[in-house]
Amino acid sequence: MIFPITRHRRLRQSSGMRNMVRETVLTVNDFIQPIFITHGEGIKNEISSMPGIYHFSIDRLEEELKEIVELGISAVLLFGIPESKDEVGRSAFADDGIVQQATRKIKSLYPDLLVVADTCLCEFTDHGHCGMVHTYERDGHICGDVMNDESLELLVKTAVSQAAAGADIIAPSNMMDGFVQAIRTGLDDAGYTHIPIMSYSVKYASAFYGPFREAADSAPQFGDRKTYQMDPANVREALREAESDVAEGADMLMVKPALAFMDVISLLRQQFDLPLVAYNVSGEYAMVKAAALQGWINEKAIVTEMLLGMKRAGADIIITYFAKDMARWLREN
Ligand code: PBG
Repeated sequence: MIFPITRHRRLRQSSGMRNMVRETVLTVNDFIQPIFITHGEGIKNEISSMPGIYHFSIDRLEEELKEIVELGISAVLLFGIPESKDEVGRSAFADDGIVQQATRKIKSLYPDLLVVADTCLCEFTDHGHCGMVHTYERDGHICGDVMNDESLELLVKTAVSQAAAGADIIAPSNMMDGFVQAIRTGLDDAGYTHIPIMSYSVKYASAFYGPFREAADSAPQFGDRKTYQMDPANVREALREAESDVAEGADMLMVKPALAFMDVISLLRQQFDLPLVAYNVSGEYAMVKAAALQGWINEKAIVTEMLLGMKRAGADIIITYFAKDMARWLREN
């Protein structure tokens, strides 16, 4: 490969030539659009740290779904903000819980739109942790331990009730050990052997979830999530997390967040052959939106480059708050 015989610019000289040799393409099938559903009526409120993303009450969902379906997006990921929270997150697994109700509504309006249910407790517990907590006082401060095996039972109940409501995919994001196996067994015992598990396998304890916690009202009331979510400094540990999820029966693996963890996406792509999901999280969205609103960056070009990067790294599917925007931009091209 020696100049002047080799000239890399030959294949870049026109858009036709560049289109022909392009290695990675984004399509609308790549995207999952998250939706926040809140209790109440007539609500469509913009989330302040996530411009363009709203809280919808169930009666206002239809307009949003119509747009999503017309754009050709095939899946939505549901997050629910319940009316009341308690110490074990009962409304996460209630038959008339907010996610269960929304799922039924969506499946009645658009049976072909895939509903992905985020299976976690943090939006439903009053302490904001993703599992059951044993609390105690130390030096005048309230402390708590998130209890692994006790939490599994609640997560299984949540997953089964989501499947019963019509969810097409169960996406557990709680990072308890053994959650895939527990949920797989629970779904199978309840007759949902056909429902796949999209596991949040490699989920880091990340500051990039900041805007989401405002949106889902799920910030932990004490402590942090570092005893269950992963240390951003670790990558070999990511392999161990993914390995156990594969062994426990996961159908898809996820890396979350995406932008600061492209090496992890790439590594999982090399090591595993299951479909791989990248979660382009709320903080990644907020940073781009903030700069775009200031006129500091070209939003469409930046988002395209970011999502292409995730795909190039090895993601097959991208959960992104930009799904609708990107679907529109792809159509314009
Ligand atoms: C629930 C959950 C979180 C996100 C997805 N599912 C928050 C968290 O773990 O604190 C974050 C999504 C985002 O930031 O866009 N456990």
